[in-house]
Amino acid sequence: MSLFLSNLEIQSINLWLSKIDYYRNSSKSQRANIAKTILQLKYKKIGNGRQRIVYDLNNGYVLKVALTPSGIQNGKTEFKIYNHCRVDLRKHLCPVKEVGHGWIIMKKMNIKVPNRIYQEKSPQLKNKFLAAGIKPRDMGNGNVRLSKKGKITVIDYGNFIMY
Ligand SMILES: Nc1ncnc2c1ncn2[C@@H]1O[C@H](COP(=O)(O)OP(=O)(O)OP(=O)(O)O)[C@@H](O)[C@H]1O
Ligand SMILES: [Mg+2]
Repeated sequence: MSLFLSNLEIQSINLWLSKIDYYRNSSKSQRANIAKTILQLKYKKIGNGRQRIVYDLNNGYVLKVALTPSGIQNGKTEFKIYNHCRVDLRKHLCPVKEVGHGWIIMKKMNIKVPNRIYQEKSPQLKNKFLAAGIKPRDMGNGNVRLSKKGKITVIDYGNFIMY
């Protein structure tokens, strides 16, 4: 049961997930297109990375569906890190609302970080993660946004490692 998705939506996610091994050698854009066709979700696609396709749920949240086995792992990692990291670091992680097998719902964050601010602030934040036992892998400017309070917030921390 999900607060955000209907049973039919979860069923189509499961149908897609049952086929991801078959498409493992497709290119990033091919995989996203095939996933979109099979998923048939009513939401607007707002992005995709190598591992996940991202939809706008139109209620302030986004749905990320895995495109690859690593994408499934990424969601598990985010759920674990969001729920177990130090409280003072949580404000730098995009809030996780709900997770299921191969999917995750997070807060929608739109404000891109200007390069100058990223250059100036991200090294400090990376050090803060490291000091808390979290290796911030892939924390490039494409994977962060600004919170309303102007804090750098990571929207894709699926490749972080928590020791
Ligand atoms: N919380 C969010 N709010 C708004 N847009 C988002 C959010 N999360 C992801 N997106 C959009 O979707 C894109 C892909 O998401 P994400 O980076 O999580 O996918 P990924 O496949 O894990 O990425 P990568 O290729 O970096 O491993 C992002 O670059 C961004 O444009
Ligand atoms: Mg990304």
